Amino acid sequence: MKALVLAGGSGSRLRPITHTSAKQLVPVANKPVLFYGLESVAEAGVREVGIVVGDSAAEIEAAVGDGSRFGLEVTYLPQEAPLGLAHAVHIARDYLGDDDFVMYLGDNFIVGGISSLVRRFRTNRPDAQIMLARVSDPRAFGVVELDPRGRVIALEEKPQHPKSDLALVGVYLFTARVHDAVCRIKPSWRGELEITDAIQELIDAGCRVDSSVVSGYWKDTGNVDDMLEVNRLVLDGVAADCAGEVSSSELVGRVVVEEGATVTRSRIVGPAVIAAGSHIRDSYVGPFTSIDSDCAVTDSEIEYSIVLRGASLAGVRRVERSLIGREVEVTSTPGALRAHRLVLGDHSKVQVTS
Ligand code: DAU
Repeated sequence: MKALVLAGGSGSRLRPITHTSAKQLVPVANKPVLFYGLESVAEAGVREVGIVVGDSAAEIEAAVGDGSRFGLEVTYLPQEAPLGLAHAVHIARDYLGDDDFVMYLGDNFIVGGISSLVRRFRTNRPDAQIMLARVSDPRAFGVVELDPRGRVIALEEKPQHPKSDLALVGVYLFTARVHDAVCRIKPSWRGELEITDAIQELIDAGCRVDSSVVSGYWKDTGNVDDMLEVNRLVLDGVAADCAGEVSSSELVGRVVVEEGATVTRSRIVGPAVIAAGSHIRDSYVGPFTSIDSDCAVTDSEIEYSIVLRGASLAGVRRVERSLIGREVEVTSTPGALRAHRLVLGDHSKVQVTS
């Protein structure tokens, strides 16, 4: 069995972060979301991985390399444009050959990994196996309709009027039969070759498509709120570890201060992670906050947030539910002027107290 990991696409819902960085590389607890996926592929016993890459190919390749540090053999498969999940399967046809494969969307996060899903597929060996999860707004997903016996009868991508609340999770298992189905489908109204259409094609051709509703945790990290939620979940599992320098400060609960980080006259309430090279001074860092490497937080308060490499906050209170990009500077207005002064990049989103 091989894996096909999708790391192309545009990441429009995570702009402006994704203007300069691939959405699959946005860190969760200071580790790119894509790495959690690659680790779970390796854990499931799959070694050969094709990674579909688009405009951000160079950045993905620089981060993942040849895959050896994950115990994987990685082959990069360039996709000229994000023309759909089934298009990604199409361009991977030669790489995949006639092997079974697990397709993993690089921005999805699956708690507990995929080993049991892969095991079930190997045991039952249907033509395809999909995972479903109940969601509150199915219109943002591929939606599946089941018959009373729980068999898949229809799939629809991002429907206006969903027929159920069962969304497709971004992990699919296929035999080589999917390739014929991909060849038969046409682009959808949004111009993409949809994997939902290819699976529908398999069903219509009488193939066996197994499904199961996952009760565990799954998130598509396509938007900021989901990113923060996944960050919360991962931080919830960290153990306290203080290898950095802490002086005149209080660390409460599970706080990680990496070697090379400093915390001075500050209060950090975990779970929280402060990466190497970051300096926290005269500040409060609250629960579910990840501060990446080389950041500076001075005379500020922040919680339930992700701060990317090299960003700084000075004299700002209080920042919550925020995603702060690389090398961003957040400062307070000098003097008593009660006005906001903003220098924001294209597609930035700011919420200020009115
Ligand atoms: O997260 C689950 C959902 O993922 C499913 O319920 C949907 O049926 C499925 O279409 C997909 O929807 P998204 O709108 O979330 O897909 P997105 O465009 O974000 O792409 C998912 C991943 O695949 C992402 O890492 C980018 C990559 N990708 C996407 C396309 C369209 C590619 O590598 N190539 C592509 O052509």
